[in-house]
Amino acid sequence: MAKKIIRVLGIESSCDETSVSIVEKSNNKYKVLSNIVKSQTDIHKLYGGVVPELAARAHSDIIDKLIFLAFRKAKMKFDKIDAIASTAGPGLLGGLLVGVVAGKSLAHHLKKPFIAVNHLEGHAMSIKLENNLVYPYLLLLVSGGHTEFTLIERFNKYRRIGTTIDDALGEAFDKTARMLKLGYPGGPEIERYAKNGNQDRFKLPKPLIQEMNCHFSFSGLKSKIANIVAESKCNEKFKRDMSASFQKTINDIIRVKTTNAIEKCRELIKGEVKVVVAGGVAANKSIRHSLMAIEESEKCKFFFPSIKYCTDNGAMIALAGIERYEKNKINKLDFKPRPRWPLDKSAVFMKGKRAVEGSG
Ligand code: KG4
Ligand code: ZN
Repeated sequence: MAKKIIRVLGIESSCDETSVSIVEKSNNKYKVLSNIVKSQTDIHKLYGGVVPELAARAHSDIIDKLIFLAFRKAKMKFDKIDAIASTAGPGLLGGLLVGVVAGKSLAHHLKKPFIAVNHLEGHAMSIKLENNLVYPYLLLLVSGGHTEFTLIERFNKYRRIGTTIDDALGEAFDKTARMLKLGYPGGPEIERYAKNGNQDRFKLPKPLIQEMNCHFSFSGLKSKIANIVAESKCNEKFKRDMSASFQKTINDIIRVKTTNAIEKCRELIKGEVKVVVAGGVAANKSIRHSLMAIEESEKCKFFFPSIKYCTDNGAMIALAGIERYEKNKINKLDFKPRPRWPLDKSAVFMKGKRAVEGSG
């Protein structure tokens, strides 16, 4: 018989946020008992991007303190936890090692199961922290390392129907911000600058927009911006107008591709299409509004996790850990981190390839 109340500790350290959380499941409802997030922005902003070696050191400096803090905040004793879940990939190897070793050590010491969680599964499940959404749903995952449409048929059954053939969307935001000499991380800065900019000043390319598939490409857009920046005076007005034009172009691309993905979904599932938009870029308010505007015409419903659960957090890892624990999907202590770990194992690796209709 399934245990009534389950509590799992989630550890996240795949990129530049160290996070530890305890999530409880009781009567089919989730409750976040604690979710401590320590961002490394101050370290990486000096370099304009994440420095893997420094990220790993910073995770290792703080992980034990955050684990103590997560228990204290949840007002829980260590032995009351049912399992320990760590992000085991995809991500930067050094950071993954810190979280996985911490999780395994704690699991071994407490004699509790260790669960290796796919970071992308965490993002895919993040909506469930606050919404009892039923499967199936279409996931649009937009983060610093990934951009994909994946049909979440049920827990652990994932079918990718579109992806990026070059940069991830968060990467496009971060690189554009760097060209414009905005702060780091770039996404929130672009959003801030775009607010007071003229979105029609620059006409930017929308790669793959004519192709009736669900694939993305952002590298041509990035090159065009680099060319314009090289020929322009990068003053405050230029920064605002370029940020606004970039964000508008991204919105146009996402709306068209999401419409294609919804159509594809209708061939695969019955009933109303529910679209969950998750990952760091889903924190962008203009993207949220732009997608909401097509709800009626596309006869679909959009769901967005709270901003704190869009960017990397331990709570989504703990929740995925609970789902795995309930299904007895626990891992041995020799589980090795996987820097590359697709959600849909059968999906074709598309980076550098032309997007071909029908290839997932
Ligand atoms: O999911 P996440 O926290 O980490 C990864 O798994 O990659 O996503 C980080 C990405 C970064 O590229 C960051 O610039 C972007 O999310 N991001 C945003 C916003 N907030 C974070 N992009 C656009 N607008 C935002 N408000
Ligand atoms: Zn992430």
